[in-house]
This record gives sequence, structure tokens and C-alpha cells, in this order.
Amino acid sequence: MTKLWGGRFTKTAEEWVDAFGASIGFDQKLVDEDIEGSLAHVTMLGKCGIIPGEEVELIKKGLTKLREKAKANQLEFSVQNEDIHLNLEKHLIDEIGSVGGKLHTGRSRNDQVATDMHLYLRKETKEIMNALKKLQKALVGQAEEHVETIIPGYTHLQRAQPVSFAHHLLAYFWMFERDFGRLKDSEKRLNISPLGAGALAGTTFPIDRNYTAELLGFDGIYDNSLDAVSDRDFIVEFLSASATLMMHLSRLCEELILWSSQEFQFIEIDDAFATGSSIMPQKKNPDMAELIRGKTGRVYGNLFSLLTTLKGLPLAYNKDMQEDKEGMFDTVETVKGSLLIFAGMIETITVRTDVMEKAVHQDFSNATELADYLATRGMPFRQAHEVVGKLVLVAIQKGVFLLDLPFQEYQDASELFEEDIFEVLQPKTVVARRNSAGGTGFTQVKVALKKANELLN
Ligand code: ARG
Repeated sequence: MTKLWGGRFTKTAEEWVDAFGASIGFDQKLVDEDIEGSLAHVTMLGKCGIIPGEEVELIKKGLTKLREKAKANQLEFSVQNEDIHLNLEKHLIDEIGSVGGKLHTGRSRNDQVATDMHLYLRKETKEIMNALKKLQKALVGQAEEHVETIIPGYTHLQRAQPVSFAHHLLAYFWMFERDFGRLKDSEKRLNISPLGAGALAGTTFPIDRNYTAELLGFDGIYDNSLDAVSDRDFIVEFLSASATLMMHLSRLCEELILWSSQEFQFIEIDDAFATGSSIMPQKKNPDMAELIRGKTGRVYGNLFSLLTTLKGLPLAYNKDMQEDKEGMFDTVETVKGSLLIFAGMIETITVRTDVMEKAVHQDFSNATELADYLATRGMPFRQAHEVVGKLVLVAIQKGVFLLDLPFQEYQDASELFEEDIFEVLQPKTVVARRNSAGGTGFTQVKVALKKANELLN
């Protein structure tokens, strides 16, 4: 088969070599973006008088036809034509004749491919932001139900201080809010047009880059043609924001998995998001949470893969850069899928408030309260810490918790203790009193919920 660049060549490559160099296997995902970019480009060529109006119309008609065919799955792609750009150009020429060859006037595949990827990522970033909002809504929905549900809060995975379950869920809401912010911010740098940068140096044709940028809905154009075709930092930025987002998801996965274990039993994952075992009839496995935790690895990998691909490349385009696509596509699918699954999973969990209630009455996570109590009454905190530590030891030795110790033990430990400590030690009181800004106190949690809802609407 003759290549579009056949002129300079005396020999054609063998099919297996073509196959190795081709990207059509994956970049056909960009078919719509490629056609959209071409439509803008040819419209501009007409407007600038670079090719005559009738030919512009012919090319547009051809491109529109190709778009319909692509939609109906009627376009065949071949590795001989290497990538989506050449495949489409070839199809266009087959469709409308040699005039189709004018489409590439004043353009190179280098600015073309960069344009396609900007368009693609712009669309997908929006979709991912929408999916992220869905998850945030699900978290807020659960949080609203559980402001006064108390769970043990942990540090080092040891019981630390009790917290509102809503507060715990909202911690993730805010992480995802920052993830949203990172994606939103990336749009500023993503929504810039490389089109018209040519192969690397611009073009001799009197093109109008601002016009194509406007037609494609970009906010502006790359100021430097070499930069426009060489950098993939807009993808790196997307992958980096995605890696951080997956890290957050993965931590929540880990908690869901722990919480749904026999040992915790704080939640039950809905049957729709769990699987059974082929051998053990009793099993219900939190597969989706595990899988998302697992998929976090490939997203990190995609980020590192691209950074590594780019690090030694001289300007401008190098074929290495064809490796920028699969990791990007894979990340888009992984992140989008994970977010949608997650939203459904959060919406449908059963929260075992009875188990949580029992748990917070069976630990020493109210001990800080006693130390604060003494400190409020004038004892230096360090000394109060010591006094309470001893009381905890007494309780452990007796096999009871702080609320079960007789008042006499408290009086023996310090005369500052009064009967009201039994109220102070109640998990509800412990949580309610942590009303410093951003704390787990119920009033604070309600303030946070209000703010979260405002952000979502
Ligand atoms: N398939 C190529 C890629 O994805 C398109 C750009 C090709 N440009 C070139 N000069 N070979 O990177």
C-alpha cells in the first residue's frame, strides 16, 4: 500500500513493522476530536482564502460523512495508515477525491494530535468532575443521616477519640473537593489551542489560529509553536490529579473493607457491590472496594510512565510521544468507572449504628476528656495526663471501662473530680464538646454539612 508520504521512499515497510509503529489500535478513540479539529481547520482555511470556498464545502461534507460512518461503526482502520489522523485523511480522499488532500494545508500531524488530545481531555475532565460531584453528594447524603452517630476515631489504628460518623465521611468530602479543585484548575492550562503550530515552527500560510481556537471553544492559543507540539504537561497534570484522587478513593476503600469485616461490622456493603465465594458459602466480599484500591496502582503507573517518557526528549515532536495516549485513556476509564461505582456503593451501605454505639462504650477513647477536666480545674495538663493514665490502668486491671469505675476511685486519684464526670465521659458528650472550628462537635458538623451542600449546589 502506498503511504501518504510515499514520495521520498523507494521501499515500503513490512506489515509487522507498520503494526509496531501504529497507534490506530488505540488512538481511534480520538475519531470525533480529530474530525472536529479538521472541520475547524478547513473552515479557517476557507475564511483566510487559503483554499476556495467550494472545496471547503466539499471537504466539510466529506468529514461530516466520515463522522456519520464512524458513529455507525462503518469506518475501517488499518495499521498501514498508522494512526487516526492518516486513516481519516485516507478515508476522506477515498470519499471526495484528491481535493481531500488539501485538508492538511498549513497543518501537521504534530499540532493535530496535540489538538485532539486537548479536546479529548477537556471533555473527559468535565465528565470526571461530574462523577466526582456524584460521589460527594453520596457522602453528604450519608453524613446527613449520621451527624449524631458516633464511631471510634483512630490514630495508629488504635482507638483515639470518638467522632461523629458524619465528620469522618465529610473528611473525604473535603479531600474530593480539593481533587475537584485541581481538575477545575487544570482546565485553565488545558483549554488552550495548539492548532496552527504546524510541525514545529508555524507555517507559511496566512492562517488564523485565534479563529480555529474560537471555533473549537478554546480560551486562547499556545504562544510558542515549539511548546505547543512538544509538551504533554496538560496530560501529566491530569494524571497527577487523577493519582491523588485515586489515593483518596483507595484510603476510603480500605476503611470500607475494614468496617465491613467481621471484626468491625460497622457497615454492610450492599449485595449489588459485593460478591460471594465459589467455595465458602458464608462469604460476602467487598470486591469493588478492593478493586478500586487495586486500580490505584495503575493510575500511579500511568503518571510515572508519562513522566519517564518525556524526561529526556529534545524539542520538538518525537515518536516516543505516541506513548502518551494509552495511559491517558486507561486513566480516564479507570477514574470514571471507580467514581461511579463508589457513588453507588456509598449510597447503599447499611450503617450498623447499634454496633458503633456498642463500640464507643467499650474503649478508653474518652480518657482525654478526663485529663481536660482536671486541666480545666487548674491541674497542669502533664500532671492530669499522669493521673488519668493511672486510672486507665486501674480500670484495665479490673477489666472495666472508665464509666464503670466507682466514684471512689476518682476521688482517690484527685479531689478535683466531681460526680459530673460520669456525664462528661459519655461518648455523646465527648463528641459534642469538641466544638472548635472544624472539630467533630455536632454543631460544627452541621456547619460543615451546610457548607458542603452549598458547594454542591
Ligand atoms: N500517532 C502519532 C502520535 O500519536 C501522531 C503524530 C505523528 N507525528 C509524526 N511526526 N510522526 O504521536
